[in-house]
Amino acid sequence: MQKEAFSSSSSKRFTFYLLAIGSACGLGNIWRFPYIVGENGGGAFLLLYIMLSFTVGLSVLTAELIVGRAARASLHKITVRLTGHIKKPFYWVGRLSLFISLVILAYYSVVSGWVLYYITQFFVSFFRPDTNAYLSTLNMAVLNENGIMQFLLASVHLLICAFILMYGKTKKFEKLLTYVLSFFVFLISILIYTSVSLESTTGVLRFLFYPDFSKLNLVSLGHAIGHVFFTLSLGLGLLVTLGSSLNDNDHIPTIAFRVTAIDTTISIVALLIIFPVAFTLSDRAMTDPGLLFESLPRLFMKIYYGEFFGFAFFLCLWIAAINASVGLLDSLISNTTERFRQASRLSSAWVVVAAALLLTLAPAFSGTFLKRFTLFEQSVIENIDSLLINYLLPLSVLGFIAVYFLFHKESERRDAFVSTDAPASVSLFRNWIWVLKWFAPGIIILGICLQLFVVIRSAL
Ligand code: TRP
Repeated sequence: MQKEAFSSSSSKRFTFYLLAIGSACGLGNIWRFPYIVGENGGGAFLLLYIMLSFTVGLSVLTAELIVGRAARASLHKITVRLTGHIKKPFYWVGRLSLFISLVILAYYSVVSGWVLYYITQFFVSFFRPDTNAYLSTLNMAVLNENGIMQFLLASVHLLICAFILMYGKTKKFEKLLTYVLSFFVFLISILIYTSVSLESTTGVLRFLFYPDFSKLNLVSLGHAIGHVFFTLSLGLGLLVTLGSSLNDNDHIPTIAFRVTAIDTTISIVALLIIFPVAFTLSDRAMTDPGLLFESLPRLFMKIYYGEFFGFAFFLCLWIAAINASVGLLDSLISNTTERFRQASRLSSAWVVVAAALLLTLAPAFSGTFLKRFTLFEQSVIENIDSLLINYLLPLSVLGFIAVYFLFHKESERRDAFVSTDAPASVSLFRNWIWVLKWFAPGIIILGICLQLFVVIRSAL
Protein backbone atom coordinates (compact mmCIF):
# COMPACT_ATOMS: atom_id res chain seq x y z
CA MET A 1 0.00 0.00 0.00
CA GLN A 2 2.66 2.41 1.10
CA LYS A 3 4.78 1.47 -1.86
CA GLU A 4 1.90 2.26 -4.15
CA ALA A 5 1.37 5.65 -2.56
CA PHE A 6 5.07 6.35 -2.94
CA SER A 7 5.16 5.40 -6.57
CA SER A 8 2.09 7.45 -7.38
CA SER A 9 3.54 10.52 -5.70
CA SER A 10 6.89 10.04 -7.38
CA SER A 11 5.29 9.57 -10.77
CA LYS A 12 3.26 12.70 -10.11
CA ARG A 13 6.50 14.49 -9.38
CA PHE A 14 8.02 13.11 -12.57
CA THR A 15 5.07 14.42 -14.58
CA PHE A 16 5.47 17.76 -12.85
CA TYR A 17 9.15 17.96 -13.82
CA LEU A 18 8.30 16.93 -17.33
CA LEU A 19 5.70 19.66 -17.64
CA ALA A 20 7.76 22.33 -15.92
CA ILE A 21 10.90 21.58 -17.90
CA GLY A 22 8.86 21.06 -21.06
CA SER A 23 7.28 24.46 -20.67
CA ALA A 24 10.54 26.16 -19.78
CA CYS A 25 12.59 24.67 -22.59
CA GLY A 26 11.42 25.72 -25.97
CA LEU A 27 12.00 28.26 -28.67
CA GLY A 28 13.11 30.68 -25.98
CA ASN A 29 16.25 28.68 -25.32
CA ILE A 30 17.12 27.45 -28.78
CA TRP A 31 15.90 30.24 -31.03
CA ARG A 32 15.65 33.46 -29.00
CA PHE A 33 18.51 33.25 -26.55
CA PRO A 34 21.41 32.97 -29.07
CA TYR A 35 20.51 36.08 -31.03
CA ILE A 36 19.80 38.07 -27.88
CA VAL A 37 23.28 37.16 -26.63
CA GLY A 38 24.67 38.12 -30.04
CA GLU A 39 22.82 41.43 -29.96
CA ASN A 40 24.19 42.27 -26.52
CA GLY A 41 27.80 41.44 -27.23
CA GLY A 42 28.41 37.95 -25.76
CA GLY A 43 30.21 37.05 -22.52
CA ALA A 44 29.32 39.94 -20.25
CA PHE A 45 25.65 39.62 -21.12
CA LEU A 46 25.74 35.87 -20.57
CA LEU A 47 27.18 36.42 -17.11
CA LEU A 48 24.51 39.00 -16.31
CA TYR A 49 21.83 36.65 -17.56
CA ILE A 50 23.05 33.72 -15.44
CA MET A 51 23.27 35.89 -12.33
CA LEU A 52 19.75 37.22 -12.82
CA SER A 53 18.33 33.83 -13.59
CA PHE A 54 19.61 32.32 -10.33
CA THR A 55 18.55 35.29 -8.22
CA VAL A 56 15.47 37.00 -9.63
CA GLY A 57 14.28 34.16 -11.88
CA LEU A 58 14.69 31.46 -9.28
CA SER A 59 13.00 33.54 -6.55
CA VAL A 60 9.97 34.36 -8.67
CA LEU A 61 9.72 30.76 -9.84
CA THR A 62 9.72 29.57 -6.24
CA ALA A 63 7.05 32.09 -5.29
CA GLU A 64 4.79 31.14 -8.21
CA LEU A 65 4.97 27.47 -7.28
CA ILE A 66 4.32 28.19 -3.62
CA VAL A 67 1.28 30.31 -4.40
CA GLY A 68 -0.08 27.66 -6.75
CA ARG A 69 0.29 24.87 -4.23
CA ALA A 70 -1.21 26.91 -1.39
CA ALA A 71 -4.19 28.20 -3.32
CA ARG A 72 -4.74 25.22 -5.59
CA ALA A 73 -5.97 27.68 -8.18
CA SER A 74 -4.82 29.66 -11.19
CA LEU A 75 -3.30 33.15 -10.93
CA HIS A 76 -6.36 34.68 -12.49
CA LYS A 77 -8.67 33.13 -9.90
CA ILE A 78 -6.35 34.20 -7.11
CA THR A 79 -6.29 37.83 -8.21
CA VAL A 80 -10.04 37.84 -8.69
CA ARG A 81 -10.47 36.39 -5.24
CA LEU A 82 -8.14 39.00 -3.85
CA THR A 83 -9.61 41.91 -5.71
CA GLY A 84 -13.12 40.95 -4.69
CA HIS A 85 -12.58 42.17 -1.19
CA ILE A 86 -9.13 43.62 -0.88
CA LYS A 87 -7.57 45.83 -3.51
CA LYS A 88 -9.21 46.70 -6.79
CA PRO A 89 -6.07 47.91 -8.61
CA PHE A 90 -4.66 44.40 -8.56
CA TYR A 91 -7.28 43.26 -10.96
CA TRP A 92 -4.98 44.35 -13.76
CA VAL A 93 -2.43 41.69 -12.81
CA GLY A 94 -4.72 38.88 -13.96
CA ARG A 95 -5.93 40.87 -16.96
CA LEU A 96 -2.46 41.89 -18.08
CA SER A 97 -1.22 38.33 -17.82
CA LEU A 98 -4.06 37.10 -20.03
CA PHE A 99 -3.42 39.80 -22.61
CA ILE A 100 0.30 38.98 -22.71
CA SER A 101 -0.47 35.25 -22.98
CA LEU A 102 -2.57 35.90 -26.06
CA VAL A 103 0.03 38.03 -27.80
CA ILE A 104 2.85 35.65 -26.88
CA LEU A 105 0.80 32.77 -28.23
CA ALA A 106 0.31 34.57 -31.54
CA TYR A 107 3.94 35.56 -31.81
CA TYR A 108 5.14 32.10 -30.76
CA SER A 109 2.91 30.53 -33.42
CA VAL A 110 4.57 32.54 -36.16
CA VAL A 111 8.01 31.32 -35.11
CA SER A 112 6.65 27.78 -34.76
CA GLY A 113 5.48 28.21 -38.34
CA TRP A 114 9.07 28.90 -39.38
CA VAL A 115 10.07 25.66 -37.65
CA LEU A 116 7.35 23.86 -39.61
CA TYR A 117 8.71 25.31 -42.83
CA TYR A 118 12.18 23.98 -42.03
CA ILE A 119 10.74 20.55 -41.25
CA THR A 120 9.24 20.43 -44.72
CA GLN A 121 12.46 21.65 -46.34
CA PHE A 122 14.55 18.97 -44.67
CA PHE A 123 11.96 16.42 -45.70
CA VAL A 124 12.14 17.57 -49.30
CA SER A 125 15.93 17.35 -49.20
CA PHE A 126 15.71 13.55 -48.66
CA PHE A 127 14.54 13.21 -52.21
CA ARG A 128 17.02 15.53 -53.83
CA PRO A 129 20.13 14.16 -55.50
CA ASP A 130 22.04 17.30 -54.45
CA THR A 131 21.06 17.31 -50.78
CA ASN A 132 23.94 19.43 -49.51
CA ALA A 133 23.66 21.99 -52.23
CA TYR A 134 19.97 22.24 -51.46
CA LEU A 135 20.53 22.63 -47.73
CA SER A 136 23.15 25.29 -48.32
CA THR A 137 20.55 27.46 -50.04
CA LEU A 138 18.09 27.20 -47.15
CA ASN A 139 17.51 30.62 -45.63
CA MET A 140 14.90 32.89 -44.19
CA ALA A 141 14.45 35.02 -47.31
CA VAL A 142 11.69 32.81 -48.73
CA LEU A 143 9.72 33.16 -45.51
CA ASN A 144 10.44 36.84 -45.05
CA GLU A 145 9.14 37.60 -48.50
CA ASN A 146 6.00 35.55 -48.10
CA GLY A 147 3.65 36.81 -45.40
CA ILE A 148 0.78 34.62 -46.51
CA MET A 149 2.85 31.50 -46.08
CA GLN A 150 3.92 32.61 -42.60
CA PHE A 151 0.31 33.23 -41.69
CA LEU A 152 -0.82 29.85 -43.02
CA LEU A 153 1.95 27.98 -41.22
CA ALA A 154 1.10 29.77 -37.97
CA SER A 155 -2.55 28.83 -38.45
CA VAL A 156 -1.67 25.18 -38.97
CA HIS A 157 0.37 25.25 -35.78
CA LEU A 158 -2.40 26.88 -33.76
CA LEU A 159 -5.09 24.56 -35.02
CA ILE A 160 -3.00 21.47 -34.24
CA CYS A 161 -2.43 22.79 -30.70
CA ALA A 162 -6.13 23.45 -30.25
CA PHE A 163 -6.94 19.97 -31.51
CA ILE A 164 -4.52 18.32 -29.06
CA LEU A 165 -6.03 20.30 -26.22
CA MET A 166 -9.70 19.99 -27.08
CA TYR A 167 -9.77 16.35 -28.00
CA GLY A 168 -8.06 15.21 -24.87
CA LYS A 169 -4.82 14.15 -26.47
CA THR A 170 -2.71 15.87 -23.84
CA LYS A 171 -1.93 12.65 -21.91
CA LYS A 172 -0.67 10.97 -25.06
CA PHE A 173 1.21 14.10 -25.88
CA GLU A 174 2.91 14.11 -22.47
CA LYS A 175 4.09 10.58 -23.10
CA LEU A 176 5.45 11.59 -26.49
CA LEU A 177 7.22 14.49 -24.81
CA THR A 178 9.19 12.11 -22.57
CA TYR A 179 10.64 10.36 -25.60
CA VAL A 180 11.17 13.55 -27.49
CA LEU A 181 13.11 15.17 -24.65
CA SER A 182 15.43 12.17 -24.37
CA PHE A 183 15.96 12.04 -28.11
CA PHE A 184 16.62 15.77 -28.14
CA VAL A 185 19.45 15.29 -25.64
CA PHE A 186 20.98 12.67 -27.91
CA LEU A 187 20.71 14.95 -30.96
CA ILE A 188 22.19 17.84 -29.09
CA SER A 189 25.21 15.79 -28.05
CA ILE A 190 25.94 14.97 -31.69
CA LEU A 191 25.55 18.59 -32.65
CA ILE A 192 27.82 19.85 -29.91
CA TYR A 193 30.51 17.40 -30.91
CA THR A 194 30.38 18.56 -34.52
CA SER A 195 30.07 22.18 -33.68
CA VAL A 196 32.95 22.49 -31.24
CA SER A 197 35.26 20.78 -33.70
CA LEU A 198 34.82 23.67 -36.13
CA GLU A 199 37.72 26.03 -36.55
CA SER A 200 35.91 29.07 -35.26
CA THR A 201 35.30 27.51 -31.84
CA THR A 202 38.19 29.18 -30.04
CA GLY A 203 36.87 32.56 -31.10
CA VAL A 204 33.40 31.57 -29.96
CA LEU A 205 34.58 30.43 -26.55
CA ARG A 206 36.33 33.74 -26.10
CA PHE A 207 33.25 35.63 -27.22
CA LEU A 208 30.96 33.71 -24.87
CA PHE A 209 33.07 33.14 -21.79
CA TYR A 210 35.38 36.10 -21.66
CA PRO A 211 33.21 38.90 -20.36
CA ASP A 212 33.96 42.19 -22.01
CA PHE A 213 31.84 44.60 -19.99
CA SER A 214 32.33 47.43 -22.44
CA LYS A 215 29.98 45.58 -24.78
CA LEU A 216 27.04 45.95 -22.40
CA ASN A 217 24.80 48.90 -23.03
CA LEU A 218 21.89 50.61 -21.34
CA VAL A 219 19.28 48.21 -22.66
CA SER A 220 21.16 45.01 -21.76
CA LEU A 221 19.72 44.82 -18.24
CA GLY A 222 16.15 44.99 -19.53
CA HIS A 223 16.89 42.43 -22.23
CA ALA A 224 18.44 40.03 -19.72
CA ILE A 225 15.64 40.23 -17.19
CA GLY A 226 12.94 39.97 -19.88
CA HIS A 227 14.52 36.86 -21.29
CA VAL A 228 14.89 35.27 -17.85
CA PHE A 229 11.13 35.58 -17.35
CA PHE A 230 10.33 34.43 -20.86
CA THR A 231 12.52 31.36 -20.80
CA LEU A 232 11.31 30.21 -17.38
CA SER A 233 7.68 30.88 -18.42
CA LEU A 234 7.21 33.29 -15.52
CA GLY A 235 4.83 36.19 -15.13
CA LEU A 236 1.78 34.63 -16.74
CA GLY A 237 0.76 32.33 -13.94
CA LEU A 238 1.72 29.18 -15.82
CA LEU A 239 3.78 27.90 -12.91
CA VAL A 240 1.07 28.90 -10.46
CA THR A 241 -1.17 26.44 -12.26
CA LEU A 242 1.54 23.77 -12.40
CA GLY A 243 2.35 24.33 -8.72
CA SER A 244 -1.19 23.44 -7.73
CA SER A 245 -0.42 19.82 -8.60
CA LEU A 246 2.53 19.56 -6.19
CA ASN A 247 2.36 17.56 -2.97
CA ASP A 248 2.65 19.16 0.41
CA ASN A 249 5.90 17.36 1.10
CA ASP A 250 7.64 18.39 -2.12
CA HIS A 251 10.38 20.89 -1.34
CA ILE A 252 9.60 23.70 -3.75
CA PRO A 253 12.90 25.67 -3.61
CA THR A 254 14.82 22.51 -4.57
CA ILE A 255 12.46 21.82 -7.43
CA ALA A 256 12.67 25.42 -8.62
CA PHE A 257 16.47 25.29 -8.51
CA ARG A 258 16.57 22.18 -10.65
CA VAL A 259 14.19 23.61 -13.24
CA THR A 260 16.26 26.82 -13.46
CA ALA A 261 19.53 24.89 -13.71
CA ILE A 262 18.27 22.62 -16.50
CA ASP A 263 16.82 25.52 -18.42
CA THR A 264 20.04 27.54 -18.16
CA THR A 265 22.16 24.55 -19.20
CA ILE A 266 20.07 24.01 -22.30
CA SER A 267 20.38 27.68 -23.23
CA ILE A 268 24.16 27.58 -22.91
CA VAL A 269 24.33 24.39 -24.94
CA ALA A 270 22.29 26.11 -27.64
CA LEU A 271 24.89 28.89 -27.76
CA LEU A 272 27.71 26.37 -28.15
CA ILE A 273 25.91 24.70 -31.02
CA ILE A 274 24.89 27.78 -32.92
CA PHE A 275 27.73 30.26 -32.55
CA PRO A 276 30.58 28.30 -34.17
CA VAL A 277 28.59 28.24 -37.42
CA ALA A 278 27.24 31.74 -36.93
CA PHE A 279 30.79 33.07 -36.65
CA THR A 280 31.44 32.03 -40.22
CA LEU A 281 28.33 33.85 -41.45
CA SER A 282 27.88 37.60 -41.59
CA ASP A 283 27.95 39.89 -38.54
CA ARG A 284 24.34 40.78 -39.10
CA ALA A 285 23.31 37.12 -38.67
CA MET A 286 24.40 37.02 -35.04
CA THR A 287 21.94 39.66 -33.97
CA ASP A 288 19.05 38.64 -36.16
CA PRO A 289 15.95 36.57 -35.28
CA GLY A 290 16.85 34.36 -38.25
CA LEU A 291 20.10 33.25 -36.60
CA LEU A 292 19.03 29.70 -35.66
CA PHE A 293 17.45 29.09 -39.03
CA GLU A 294 20.35 30.48 -41.04
CA SER A 295 23.10 28.70 -39.16
CA LEU A 296 21.89 25.22 -38.18
CA PRO A 297 21.34 23.82 -41.69
CA ARG A 298 25.01 24.55 -42.37
CA LEU A 299 25.97 22.46 -39.35
CA PHE A 300 23.82 19.54 -40.45
CA MET A 301 25.59 19.57 -43.79
CA LYS A 302 28.75 18.55 -41.99
CA ILE A 303 27.18 15.42 -40.45
CA TYR A 304 26.61 12.08 -42.16
CA TYR A 305 22.94 11.78 -42.96
CA GLY A 306 22.63 15.35 -41.73
CA GLU A 307 19.33 15.82 -43.54
CA PHE A 308 17.73 13.15 -41.33
CA PHE A 309 19.17 14.64 -38.17
CA GLY A 310 18.08 18.10 -39.30
CA PHE A 311 14.58 16.87 -39.91
CA ALA A 312 14.49 15.16 -36.49
CA PHE A 313 15.91 18.25 -34.77
CA PHE A 314 13.32 20.63 -36.13
CA LEU A 315 10.58 18.10 -35.44
CA CYS A 316 11.64 17.88 -31.78
CA LEU A 317 11.82 21.65 -31.59
CA TRP A 318 8.33 21.89 -33.00
CA ILE A 319 7.00 19.40 -30.45
CA ALA A 320 8.56 21.50 -27.69
CA ALA A 321 6.87 24.55 -29.22
CA ILE A 322 3.53 22.74 -29.32
CA ASN A 323 3.90 21.97 -25.64
CA ALA A 324 4.48 25.63 -24.80
CA SER A 325 1.63 26.78 -27.02
CA VAL A 326 -0.78 24.22 -25.58
CA GLY A 327 0.03 25.52 -22.08
CA LEU A 328 -0.73 29.09 -23.11
CA LEU A 329 -3.89 28.09 -24.99
CA ASP A 330 -5.14 26.05 -22.08
CA SER A 331 -4.90 28.91 -19.61
CA LEU A 332 -6.56 31.32 -22.07
CA ILE A 333 -9.41 28.93 -22.83
CA SER A 334 -10.01 28.09 -19.15
CA ASN A 335 -10.13 31.77 -18.26
CA THR A 336 -12.53 32.62 -21.08
CA THR A 337 -14.83 29.78 -20.08
CA GLU A 338 -14.70 30.88 -16.47
CA ARG A 339 -15.51 34.47 -17.31
CA PHE A 340 -18.43 33.93 -19.65
CA ARG A 341 -20.49 31.46 -17.70
CA GLN A 342 -22.67 30.30 -20.56
CA ALA A 343 -19.75 29.65 -22.88
CA SER A 344 -18.86 26.05 -23.59
CA ARG A 345 -15.21 25.14 -23.64
CA LEU A 346 -15.35 24.54 -27.35
CA SER A 347 -16.77 27.94 -28.19
CA SER A 348 -14.19 29.60 -25.94
CA ALA A 349 -11.53 27.67 -27.81
CA TRP A 350 -12.77 29.05 -31.12
CA VAL A 351 -12.82 32.58 -29.76
CA VAL A 352 -9.28 32.31 -28.41
CA VAL A 353 -7.92 30.68 -31.58
CA ALA A 354 -9.61 33.32 -33.75
CA ALA A 355 -8.21 36.15 -31.62
CA ALA A 356 -4.75 34.61 -31.72
CA LEU A 357 -4.94 34.17 -35.49
CA LEU A 358 -5.88 37.78 -35.90
CA LEU A 359 -2.90 38.78 -33.84
CA THR A 360 -0.52 36.61 -35.87
CA LEU A 361 -1.19 38.87 -38.85
CA ALA A 362 1.13 41.60 -37.60
CA PRO A 363 4.26 39.48 -37.06
CA ALA A 364 3.52 37.31 -40.11
CA PHE A 365 3.38 40.27 -42.48
CA SER A 366 6.23 42.07 -40.78
CA GLY A 367 8.62 41.45 -43.69
CA THR A 368 6.14 42.21 -46.48
CA PHE A 369 3.05 44.42 -46.09
CA LEU A 370 4.29 46.02 -42.94
CA LYS A 371 7.89 46.33 -44.04
CA ARG A 372 7.78 50.10 -44.14
CA PHE A 373 6.54 50.37 -40.58
CA THR A 374 9.80 50.33 -38.78
CA LEU A 375 10.24 51.88 -35.38
CA PHE A 376 13.64 52.53 -33.77
CA GLU A 377 15.20 50.85 -36.82
CA GLN A 378 13.42 47.61 -36.00
CA SER A 379 10.76 45.70 -37.90
CA VAL A 380 7.23 45.11 -36.61
CA ILE A 381 8.01 41.63 -35.32
CA GLU A 382 11.10 42.85 -33.47
CA ASN A 383 9.09 45.65 -31.88
CA ILE A 384 6.36 43.25 -30.75
CA ASP A 385 8.99 40.96 -29.28
CA SER A 386 10.64 43.81 -27.43
CA LEU A 387 7.42 45.35 -26.10
CA LEU A 388 6.17 42.00 -24.87
CA ILE A 389 9.26 40.48 -23.40
CA ASN A 390 11.32 43.45 -22.32
CA TYR A 391 8.50 45.61 -20.93
CA LEU A 392 5.16 43.87 -20.40
CA LEU A 393 6.39 40.55 -19.03
CA PRO A 394 8.55 42.21 -16.35
CA LEU A 395 5.61 44.48 -15.45
CA SER A 396 3.42 41.46 -15.06
CA VAL A 397 5.99 39.84 -12.75
CA LEU A 398 6.06 43.05 -10.73
CA GLY A 399 2.29 42.79 -10.33
CA PHE A 400 2.60 39.18 -9.30
CA ILE A 401 5.16 40.04 -6.60
CA ALA A 402 2.81 42.68 -5.20
CA VAL A 403 -0.08 40.21 -5.13
CA TYR A 404 2.19 37.65 -3.53
CA PHE A 405 3.11 39.82 -0.58
CA LEU A 406 -0.51 40.80 -0.05
CA PHE A 407 -1.91 37.37 -0.44
CA HIS A 408 0.47 35.20 1.47
CA LYS A 409 1.09 35.22 5.17
CA GLU A 410 4.67 35.44 6.39
CA SER A 411 4.35 32.19 8.37
CA GLU A 412 3.03 30.28 5.35
CA ARG A 413 5.92 31.55 3.30
CA ARG A 414 8.38 30.26 5.85
CA ASP A 415 6.66 26.88 6.12
CA ALA A 416 6.74 26.37 2.39
CA PHE A 417 10.36 27.42 2.05
CA VAL A 418 12.16 26.06 5.07
CA SER A 419 12.55 22.30 5.28
CA THR A 420 14.46 20.21 7.79
CA ASP A 421 15.59 17.96 4.93
CA ALA A 422 17.33 20.89 3.27
CA PRO A 423 19.39 22.63 5.97
CA ALA A 424 20.52 25.39 3.61
CA SER A 425 16.92 26.53 3.27
CA VAL A 426 16.99 28.04 6.76
CA SER A 427 19.66 30.55 5.90
CA LEU A 428 18.45 31.05 2.36
CA PHE A 429 14.95 31.99 3.46
CA ARG A 430 15.79 35.58 4.34
CA ASN A 431 17.81 36.03 1.15
CA TRP A 432 14.92 34.75 -0.89
CA ILE A 433 12.51 37.20 0.71
CA TRP A 434 14.98 40.04 0.23
CA VAL A 435 15.48 39.25 -3.43
CA LEU A 436 11.76 38.98 -4.01
CA LYS A 437 10.78 42.07 -2.09
CA TRP A 438 13.56 44.50 -2.98
CA PHE A 439 16.10 43.24 -5.48
CA ALA A 440 13.71 41.88 -8.13
CA PRO A 441 11.40 44.92 -8.21
CA GLY A 442 14.44 47.22 -8.19
CA ILE A 443 16.06 45.43 -11.12
CA ILE A 444 12.79 45.29 -13.07
CA ILE A 445 12.11 48.99 -12.60
CA LEU A 446 15.70 49.95 -13.38
CA GLY A 447 15.69 47.76 -16.50
CA ILE A 448 12.50 49.35 -17.80
CA CYS A 449 13.62 52.91 -16.99
CA LEU A 450 16.97 52.45 -18.75
CA GLN A 451 15.24 51.13 -21.85
CA LEU A 452 12.75 53.99 -21.82
CA PHE A 453 15.61 56.43 -21.48
CA VAL A 454 17.27 55.03 -24.58
CA VAL A 455 14.00 55.09 -26.52
CA ILE A 456 13.24 58.68 -25.56
CA ARG A 457 16.79 59.80 -26.27
CA SER A 458 16.69 58.27 -29.74
CA ALA A 459 13.30 59.81 -30.45
CA LEU A 460 14.47 63.32 -29.63
N1 TRP B 1 9.45 29.33 -21.80
C1 TRP B 1 9.08 29.02 -23.14
C2 TRP B 1 10.31 29.06 -24.01
O1 TRP B 1 11.37 29.29 -23.55
C3 TRP B 1 8.04 29.97 -23.67
C4 TRP B 1 6.80 29.94 -22.87
C5 TRP B 1 5.95 28.93 -22.73
C6 TRP B 1 6.31 30.96 -22.05
N2 TRP B 1 4.95 29.23 -21.87
C7 TRP B 1 5.14 30.47 -21.44
C8 TRP B 1 6.78 32.22 -21.76
C9 TRP B 1 4.46 31.24 -20.55
C10 TRP B 1 6.09 33.00 -20.87
C11 TRP B 1 4.95 32.51 -20.24
O2 TRP B 1 10.23 28.83 -25.18
